[in-house]
Amino acid sequence: MNQSGLHKRIGVVMGGISHEREVSLKTGSAILKALQEGGYQAKGIEVSADICQRLLDEQIDVAFIALHGRWGEDGTVQGLLELLRIPYTGSGVLASALAMNKIKAKEIFLYHGIPTPEFIIPQEEALEEPPFPPPWVIKPASEGSTVGIGIVMDYKGLEEAIRHARGYDRQVLVERFIEGKELTVGILKGEPLPVIEIAPKGGFYDYQAKYTPGQTEYLCPARISDQMQDEVQRLALKAYHALGCSGCARVDLLMNGKGEAFVTEVNTVPGMTETSLVPKAAAQVGISFLQLVQIIVEEASLKIEEGAG
Ligand SMILES: Nc1ncnc2c1ncn2[C@@H]1O[C@H](COP(=O)(O)OP(=O)(O)O)[C@@H](O)[C@H]1O
Ligand SMILES: [Mg+2]
Repeated sequence: MNQSGLHKRIGVVMGGISHEREVSLKTGSAILKALQEGGYQAKGIEVSADICQRLLDEQIDVAFIALHGRWGEDGTVQGLLELLRIPYTGSGVLASALAMNKIKAKEIFLYHGIPTPEFIIPQEEALEEPPFPPPWVIKPASEGSTVGIGIVMDYKGLEEAIRHARGYDRQVLVERFIEGKELTVGILKGEPLPVIEIAPKGGFYDYQAKYTPGQTEYLCPARISDQMQDEVQRLALKAYHALGCSGCARVDLLMNGKGEAFVTEVNTVPGMTETSLVPKAAAQVGISFLQLVQIIVEEASLKIEEGAG
Protein backbone atom coordinates (compact mmCIF):
# COMPACT_ATOMS: atom_id res chain seq x y z
CA MET A 1 0.00 0.00 0.00
CA ASN A 2 1.26 3.47 -0.72
CA GLN A 3 1.78 5.92 2.13
CA SER A 4 -1.32 7.98 1.38
CA GLY A 5 -3.49 4.90 1.86
CA LEU A 6 -2.17 4.42 5.36
CA HIS A 7 -3.20 7.93 6.33
CA LYS A 8 -6.74 7.60 5.13
CA ARG A 9 -9.35 7.13 7.78
CA ILE A 10 -11.16 3.96 6.79
CA GLY A 11 -14.53 3.14 8.27
CA VAL A 12 -15.52 -0.51 8.11
CA VAL A 13 -19.29 -0.27 7.96
CA MET A 14 -20.89 -3.42 9.36
CA GLY A 15 -23.96 -4.87 11.01
CA GLY A 16 -26.97 -3.27 9.40
CA ILE A 17 -30.59 -4.31 9.67
CA SER A 18 -30.90 -7.14 7.15
CA HIS A 19 -31.31 -10.85 7.93
CA GLU A 20 -27.57 -11.14 7.34
CA ARG A 21 -26.52 -8.84 10.19
CA GLU A 22 -24.59 -11.55 12.05
CA VAL A 23 -22.67 -12.56 8.92
CA SER A 24 -21.88 -8.91 8.26
CA LEU A 25 -20.47 -8.47 11.75
CA LYS A 26 -18.14 -11.42 11.14
CA THR A 27 -17.05 -10.08 7.75
CA GLY A 28 -16.55 -6.58 9.20
CA SER A 29 -14.52 -7.76 12.20
CA ALA A 30 -12.18 -9.82 10.00
CA ILE A 31 -11.62 -6.87 7.65
CA LEU A 32 -11.09 -4.43 10.53
CA LYS A 33 -8.58 -6.71 12.23
CA ALA A 34 -6.59 -7.15 9.01
CA LEU A 35 -6.56 -3.41 8.23
CA GLN A 36 -5.44 -2.51 11.74
CA GLU A 37 -2.70 -5.14 11.69
CA GLY A 38 -1.62 -3.73 8.32
CA GLY A 39 -1.10 -0.32 9.90
CA TYR A 40 -4.21 1.38 8.55
CA GLN A 41 -6.24 3.97 10.42
CA ALA A 42 -9.32 1.83 10.40
CA LYS A 43 -12.26 1.80 12.73
CA GLY A 44 -15.38 -0.29 12.88
CA ILE A 45 -18.69 1.45 12.37
CA GLU A 46 -21.38 -0.90 13.59
CA VAL A 47 -24.63 0.47 12.28
CA SER A 48 -28.32 -0.26 12.48
CA ALA A 49 -31.09 2.19 11.55
CA ASP A 50 -28.81 5.08 12.62
CA ILE A 51 -26.52 4.66 9.60
CA CYS A 52 -27.12 8.13 8.10
CA GLN A 53 -26.15 9.96 11.25
CA ARG A 54 -23.22 7.63 11.92
CA LEU A 55 -21.70 8.20 8.50
CA LEU A 56 -22.04 11.95 9.00
CA ASP A 57 -20.46 11.82 12.47
CA GLU A 58 -17.58 9.42 11.94
CA GLN A 59 -15.42 11.64 9.70
CA ILE A 60 -14.03 8.97 7.41
CA ASP A 61 -12.20 9.28 4.08
CA VAL A 62 -13.17 5.84 2.75
CA ALA A 63 -16.03 3.46 3.58
CA PHE A 64 -15.32 -0.26 3.46
CA ILE A 65 -18.80 -1.70 3.03
CA ALA A 66 -19.11 -4.94 4.95
CA LEU A 67 -22.92 -4.92 4.98
CA HIS A 68 -24.77 -7.82 3.41
CA GLY A 69 -28.30 -7.90 2.10
CA ARG A 70 -30.94 -5.22 2.09
CA TRP A 71 -30.00 -1.67 3.13
CA GLY A 72 -26.32 -2.36 2.63
CA GLU A 73 -25.60 -4.45 -0.43
CA ASP A 74 -28.55 -3.21 -2.50
CA GLY A 75 -27.51 0.29 -3.57
CA THR A 76 -29.10 2.20 -0.71
CA VAL A 77 -25.93 2.72 1.34
CA GLN A 78 -24.00 3.23 -1.89
CA GLY A 79 -26.38 6.08 -2.75
CA LEU A 80 -25.94 7.61 0.69
CA LEU A 81 -22.15 7.50 0.31
CA GLU A 82 -22.36 9.06 -3.14
CA LEU A 83 -24.37 11.94 -1.68
CA LEU A 84 -21.88 12.34 1.16
CA ARG A 85 -19.03 12.12 -1.40
CA ILE A 86 -17.30 9.38 0.60
CA PRO A 87 -15.52 6.86 -1.70
CA TYR A 88 -16.62 3.30 -0.97
CA THR A 89 -15.66 -0.24 -1.86
CA GLY A 90 -17.40 -2.48 -4.38
CA SER A 91 -20.17 -1.74 -6.83
CA GLY A 92 -22.13 1.46 -7.37
CA VAL A 93 -25.80 2.21 -6.84
CA LEU A 94 -27.24 0.66 -10.00
CA ALA A 95 -25.12 -2.49 -10.11
CA SER A 96 -25.72 -3.12 -6.40
CA ALA A 97 -29.47 -2.76 -6.82
CA LEU A 98 -29.59 -4.99 -9.89
CA ALA A 99 -27.42 -7.69 -8.34
CA MET A 100 -29.56 -7.72 -5.21
CA ASN A 101 -32.71 -8.44 -7.18
CA LYS A 102 -32.42 -11.95 -8.59
CA ILE A 103 -35.25 -11.37 -11.09
CA LYS A 104 -33.76 -8.16 -12.52
CA ALA A 105 -30.29 -9.71 -12.60
CA LYS A 106 -31.55 -12.79 -14.47
CA GLU A 107 -33.42 -10.63 -16.97
CA ILE A 108 -30.15 -8.85 -17.71
CA PHE A 109 -28.27 -12.15 -17.99
CA LEU A 110 -30.80 -13.34 -20.56
CA TYR A 111 -30.43 -10.11 -22.52
CA HIS A 112 -26.67 -10.70 -22.67
CA GLY A 113 -26.97 -14.39 -23.52
CA ILE A 114 -25.59 -15.49 -20.15
CA PRO A 115 -27.10 -18.85 -19.21
CA THR A 116 -29.16 -18.78 -16.01
CA PRO A 117 -31.58 -21.42 -14.71
CA GLU A 118 -35.01 -21.18 -16.36
CA PHE A 119 -37.53 -19.39 -14.17
CA ILE A 120 -40.99 -17.94 -13.81
CA ILE A 121 -42.37 -15.14 -11.69
CA PRO A 122 -45.48 -16.64 -10.04
CA GLN A 123 -48.59 -14.46 -10.07
CA GLU A 124 -50.24 -13.62 -6.77
CA GLU A 125 -53.57 -14.97 -8.00
CA ALA A 126 -53.93 -18.06 -10.21
CA LEU A 127 -50.73 -20.05 -9.75
CA GLU A 128 -49.64 -21.67 -12.98
CA GLU A 129 -47.51 -24.77 -13.15
CA PRO A 130 -43.97 -23.85 -14.31
CA PRO A 131 -43.30 -24.85 -17.94
CA PHE A 132 -40.24 -26.87 -16.88
CA PRO A 133 -40.16 -30.04 -14.81
CA PRO A 134 -39.66 -30.19 -11.01
CA PRO A 135 -37.86 -30.04 -8.65
CA TRP A 136 -38.51 -26.31 -8.38
CA VAL A 137 -36.47 -23.85 -6.37
CA ILE A 138 -38.51 -21.03 -4.86
CA LYS A 139 -36.63 -17.88 -3.85
CA PRO A 140 -37.42 -14.41 -2.59
CA ALA A 141 -36.02 -11.98 -5.20
CA SER A 142 -33.97 -10.00 -2.71
CA GLU A 143 -32.43 -12.13 -0.04
CA GLY A 144 -29.09 -13.77 0.59
CA SER A 145 -27.58 -16.58 2.66
CA THR A 146 -30.24 -18.99 1.36
CA VAL A 147 -32.86 -17.24 3.50
CA GLY A 148 -36.45 -18.02 2.48
CA ILE A 149 -35.45 -20.53 -0.23
CA GLY A 150 -37.42 -23.74 -0.70
CA ILE A 151 -37.26 -26.76 -2.98
CA VAL A 152 -40.43 -28.65 -3.91
CA MET A 153 -41.01 -31.79 -5.91
CA ASP A 154 -44.55 -31.14 -7.12
CA TYR A 155 -47.29 -28.59 -7.73
CA LYS A 156 -48.90 -29.36 -4.35
CA GLY A 157 -45.93 -28.00 -2.43
CA LEU A 158 -45.45 -24.99 -4.66
CA GLU A 159 -48.08 -22.70 -3.17
CA GLU A 160 -46.84 -23.12 0.38
CA ALA A 161 -43.20 -22.57 -0.65
CA ILE A 162 -44.18 -19.41 -2.51
CA ARG A 163 -46.07 -18.14 0.53
CA HIS A 164 -43.01 -18.82 2.67
CA ALA A 165 -40.70 -16.98 0.24
CA ARG A 166 -43.13 -14.05 0.10
CA GLY A 167 -42.61 -13.65 3.84
CA TYR A 168 -39.15 -12.34 2.92
CA ASP A 169 -39.95 -10.42 -0.25
CA ARG A 170 -43.17 -9.78 -2.17
CA GLN A 171 -41.26 -10.61 -5.34
CA VAL A 172 -40.58 -14.32 -5.71
CA LEU A 173 -39.14 -16.47 -8.48
CA VAL A 174 -39.43 -20.18 -9.21
CA GLU A 175 -36.35 -21.71 -10.85
CA ARG A 176 -35.55 -24.99 -12.49
CA PHE A 177 -33.48 -27.11 -10.12
CA ILE A 178 -29.99 -27.70 -11.51
CA GLU A 179 -28.62 -31.01 -10.36
CA GLY A 180 -24.85 -31.04 -10.35
CA LYS A 181 -21.99 -28.96 -9.03
CA GLU A 182 -22.14 -25.67 -7.25
CA LEU A 183 -19.35 -23.28 -8.26
CA THR A 184 -18.34 -19.77 -7.34
CA VAL A 185 -15.91 -17.29 -8.89
CA GLY A 186 -14.48 -14.25 -7.17
CA ILE A 187 -13.69 -11.22 -9.31
CA LEU A 188 -10.75 -9.11 -8.20
CA LYS A 189 -9.09 -6.25 -10.08
CA GLY A 190 -11.35 -7.00 -13.02
CA GLU A 191 -10.08 -10.59 -13.32
CA PRO A 192 -11.64 -13.88 -12.26
CA LEU A 193 -10.00 -15.80 -9.42
CA PRO A 194 -9.76 -19.61 -9.60
CA VAL A 195 -13.11 -21.43 -9.51
CA ILE A 196 -14.15 -22.88 -6.15
CA GLU A 197 -16.41 -25.91 -5.97
CA ILE A 198 -18.82 -25.98 -3.05
CA ALA A 199 -19.73 -29.46 -1.88
CA PRO A 200 -22.20 -29.35 1.03
CA LYS A 201 -22.11 -32.61 2.98
CA GLY A 202 -25.89 -32.55 3.37
CA GLY A 203 -26.50 -31.92 -0.34
CA PHE A 204 -28.09 -28.47 0.01
CA TYR A 205 -26.03 -25.35 0.60
CA ASP A 206 -28.36 -23.70 3.11
CA TYR A 207 -27.68 -21.18 5.86
CA GLN A 208 -26.44 -23.87 8.22
CA ALA A 209 -24.16 -25.49 5.63
CA LYS A 210 -22.77 -22.06 4.77
CA TYR A 211 -21.91 -20.96 8.25
CA THR A 212 -21.27 -24.12 10.29
CA PRO A 213 -17.61 -25.16 10.07
CA GLY A 214 -17.15 -28.66 8.63
CA GLN A 215 -20.62 -28.83 7.01
CA THR A 216 -19.34 -28.04 3.56
CA GLU A 217 -16.24 -28.92 1.59
CA TYR A 218 -14.65 -26.24 -0.56
CA LEU A 219 -12.50 -27.48 -3.41
CA CYS A 220 -10.08 -25.19 -5.17
CA PRO A 221 -9.18 -26.15 -7.83
CA ALA A 222 -12.71 -27.36 -8.60
CA ARG A 223 -13.14 -30.89 -9.99
CA ILE A 224 -13.75 -29.67 -13.55
CA SER A 225 -11.57 -29.66 -16.66
CA ASP A 226 -9.33 -26.69 -17.50
CA GLN A 227 -11.60 -25.91 -20.40
CA MET A 228 -14.67 -25.83 -18.12
CA GLN A 229 -12.78 -23.69 -15.63
CA ASP A 230 -12.05 -21.16 -18.41
CA GLU A 231 -15.68 -21.18 -19.51
CA VAL A 232 -16.99 -20.72 -15.96
CA GLN A 233 -14.58 -17.82 -15.36
CA ARG A 234 -15.60 -16.24 -18.67
CA LEU A 235 -19.29 -16.48 -17.78
CA ALA A 236 -18.68 -15.09 -14.30
CA LEU A 237 -16.83 -12.07 -15.66
CA LYS A 238 -19.52 -11.54 -18.27
CA ALA A 239 -22.22 -11.56 -15.57
CA TYR A 240 -20.17 -9.08 -13.49
CA HIS A 241 -19.90 -6.72 -16.46
CA ALA A 242 -23.50 -7.20 -17.55
CA LEU A 243 -24.68 -5.81 -14.20
CA GLY A 244 -22.03 -3.07 -14.30
CA CYS A 245 -20.25 -4.18 -11.13
CA SER A 246 -17.06 -2.59 -9.78
CA GLY A 247 -14.40 -3.73 -7.34
CA CYS A 248 -14.56 -7.15 -5.74
CA ALA A 249 -17.61 -9.35 -6.28
CA ARG A 250 -18.44 -13.07 -6.37
CA VAL A 251 -20.49 -14.86 -8.97
CA ASP A 252 -22.39 -18.06 -8.07
CA LEU A 253 -23.00 -20.73 -10.70
CA LEU A 254 -24.42 -24.22 -11.00
CA MET A 255 -23.13 -26.83 -13.44
CA ASN A 256 -25.33 -29.69 -14.60
CA GLY A 257 -24.23 -33.25 -15.42
CA LYS A 258 -23.57 -32.28 -19.04
CA GLY A 259 -21.05 -29.68 -17.97
CA GLU A 260 -23.31 -26.72 -18.80
CA ALA A 261 -22.90 -23.80 -16.42
CA PHE A 262 -25.65 -21.40 -15.31
CA VAL A 263 -25.17 -18.16 -13.41
CA THR A 264 -27.54 -17.90 -10.44
CA GLU A 265 -26.46 -14.63 -8.87
CA VAL A 266 -23.77 -12.03 -8.31
CA ASN A 267 -22.85 -11.04 -4.77
CA THR A 268 -21.54 -7.48 -4.69
CA VAL A 269 -20.43 -7.69 -1.05
CA PRO A 270 -19.08 -11.23 -0.77
CA GLY A 271 -18.38 -12.72 2.64
CA MET A 272 -14.94 -11.76 3.83
CA THR A 273 -14.05 -13.73 6.92
CA GLU A 274 -10.72 -15.51 6.69
CA THR A 275 -12.55 -18.71 5.78
CA SER A 276 -14.89 -17.16 3.21
CA LEU A 277 -14.83 -18.05 -0.47
CA VAL A 278 -13.13 -15.03 -2.06
CA PRO A 279 -10.26 -15.13 0.47
CA LYS A 280 -9.86 -18.88 -0.27
CA ALA A 281 -9.67 -18.29 -4.02
CA ALA A 282 -7.30 -15.35 -3.56
CA ALA A 283 -5.01 -17.54 -1.42
CA GLN A 284 -4.76 -19.98 -4.35
CA VAL A 285 -3.04 -17.28 -6.39
CA GLY A 286 -0.83 -16.17 -3.49
CA ILE A 287 -2.91 -13.20 -2.30
CA SER A 288 -3.05 -13.07 1.50
CA PHE A 289 -6.12 -11.88 3.39
CA LEU A 290 -4.41 -8.56 4.17
CA GLN A 291 -3.39 -8.10 0.54
CA LEU A 292 -6.96 -8.84 -0.54
CA VAL A 293 -8.38 -6.26 1.83
CA GLN A 294 -5.72 -3.76 0.65
CA ILE A 295 -6.67 -4.29 -2.99
CA ILE A 296 -10.34 -3.72 -2.15
CA VAL A 297 -9.54 -0.51 -0.24
CA GLU A 298 -7.36 0.77 -3.09
CA GLU A 299 -10.22 0.24 -5.51
CA ALA A 300 -12.65 2.25 -3.37
CA SER A 301 -14.17 5.12 -5.32
CA LEU A 302 -17.19 7.24 -6.06
CA LYS A 303 -18.94 5.83 -9.08
CA ILE A 304 -21.11 8.82 -9.93
CA GLU A 305 -18.95 11.48 -11.55
CA GLU A 306 -19.31 15.07 -10.52
CA GLY A 307 -20.60 17.29 -13.26
CA ALA A 308 -21.42 14.36 -15.52
CA GLY A 309 -25.18 14.57 -15.30
N1 LIG B 1 -31.71 -23.45 -9.51
C1 LIG B 1 -31.11 -24.09 -8.50
N2 LIG B 1 -30.86 -25.42 -8.58
C2 LIG B 1 -30.26 -26.07 -7.55
N3 LIG B 1 -29.89 -25.50 -6.40
C3 LIG B 1 -30.10 -24.18 -6.26
C4 LIG B 1 -30.71 -23.40 -7.29
N4 LIG B 1 -30.79 -22.13 -6.89
C5 LIG B 1 -30.25 -22.09 -5.66
N5 LIG B 1 -29.83 -23.31 -5.26
C6 LIG B 1 -29.22 -23.63 -3.96
O1 LIG B 1 -29.59 -22.64 -3.01
C7 LIG B 1 -28.46 -21.87 -2.58
C8 LIG B 1 -28.81 -20.40 -2.46
O2 LIG B 1 -29.27 -19.89 -3.68
P1 LIG B 1 -28.77 -18.52 -4.29
O3 LIG B 1 -29.56 -18.27 -5.52
O4 LIG B 1 -27.29 -18.52 -4.44
O5 LIG B 1 -29.24 -17.46 -3.23
P2 LIG B 1 -28.53 -16.76 -1.96
O6 LIG B 1 -27.13 -17.27 -1.87
O7 LIG B 1 -28.61 -15.32 -2.29
O8 LIG B 1 -29.40 -17.13 -0.82
C9 LIG B 1 -27.41 -22.13 -3.61
O9 LIG B 1 -26.13 -21.94 -3.05
C10 LIG B 1 -27.72 -23.57 -4.04
O10 LIG B 1 -27.20 -24.50 -3.10
MG1 LIG C 1 -25.72 -17.57 -3.41
